[in-house]
Amino acid sequence: MNDEFVARAQEVLARDTSTVPEFWQNKYRDEAAKNWDKFYNRNATNFYKDRHWTDREFEELRPGYTFAEKNPVLLEIGCGVGNFILPVLERNPSVYAYACDFSPRAVDYVKASDGYNPDRCHAFVCDITQDQLTDTIPPHSVDIVSSIFVFSALPPEKQAAAVSNIVRVLRPGGRVLIREHGLYDMAQLRFKPGRKLADNLYVRQDGTLSYYYSTERLRELFVAHGGLVELDNDYVFRRLTNVKKELDVDRVFVQARFQAPLDSSALETALQDAHIVGPQTEEERRQAWEALYMHGCVPPPAQ
Ligand SMILES: C[S@@+](CC[C@H](N)C(=O)[O-])C[C@H]1O[C@@H](n2cnc3c(N)ncnc32)[C@H](O)[C@@H]1O
Repeated sequence: MNDEFVARAQEVLARDTSTVPEFWQNKYRDEAAKNWDKFYNRNATNFYKDRHWTDREFEELRPGYTFAEKNPVLLEIGCGVGNFILPVLERNPSVYAYACDFSPRAVDYVKASDGYNPDRCHAFVCDITQDQLTDTIPPHSVDIVSSIFVFSALPPEKQAAAVSNIVRVLRPGGRVLIREHGLYDMAQLRFKPGRKLADNLYVRQDGTLSYYYSTERLRELFVAHGGLVELDNDYVFRRLTNVKKELDVDRVFVQARFQAPLDSSALETALQDAHIVGPQTEEERRQAWEALYMHGCVPPPAQ
């Protein structure tokens, strides 16, 4: 991140020294599912727009993408009313998707939508921080897990449990695709005093929580805790201009892909594909690394 942007953002955040009292902190954390359910009771399916940008950002979501030459099985955590998963299913006739949310009302909306076909999608209620995904999904069977602004709804002490839960259903070589609210996003800087629960964790007017991620925090969760390999993990900056108010606002997101390590037989194939038989030249080493990276065995090669 640009030093000047960070300094300005830190100056704004440092002005807010208050934190929400403990009683209310516990209440917001304990009643997260209830508050999201009320959110969908008020807004029905009208709040979020369909997310048609996701295949531009993630190649895994483009039509025809296969995993180990078979059609992908996808899991969307925190699916809401289906603004992400339903367009993905429409664009990719060969995808099968699980979709879960801890708001029963949101899951009912997904099931009632025109695009929901039970032969290709299974929507179910699940709190990913405490209900085992393996109660519904066979262990290590999912190719792609997506989290679109869902980890942002989890308080820090529950984030690691959600990662472990996901890792148990991810197959070797399977990928996690993430887009969340990023550190110093305009929405974080705009919280008024009295809304902060902890560093980077806030409560909105409607009682839902919002956590702002650094790329380091994602790495800590998915690599150090979850044992996954990082494919990419970056900030995405978008400057939006409100012409009427003559105002520029800086949106910050974090976008990342992590991959489950390959098991030994898949790793053997990857090594053979990469011709790892004692590479001699710098170029051969670079190519071998590149090939292993494509198989999710190693981090991206140095630029
Ligand atoms: C910002 S919405 C995003 C919805 C959807 N992913 C989309 O792209 O439109 C966040 C969603 O995460 C769900 N959620 C939050 N915490 C959750 C948890 N612990 N387990 C399951 N779902 C959760 C909320 O109910 C809400 O539907």
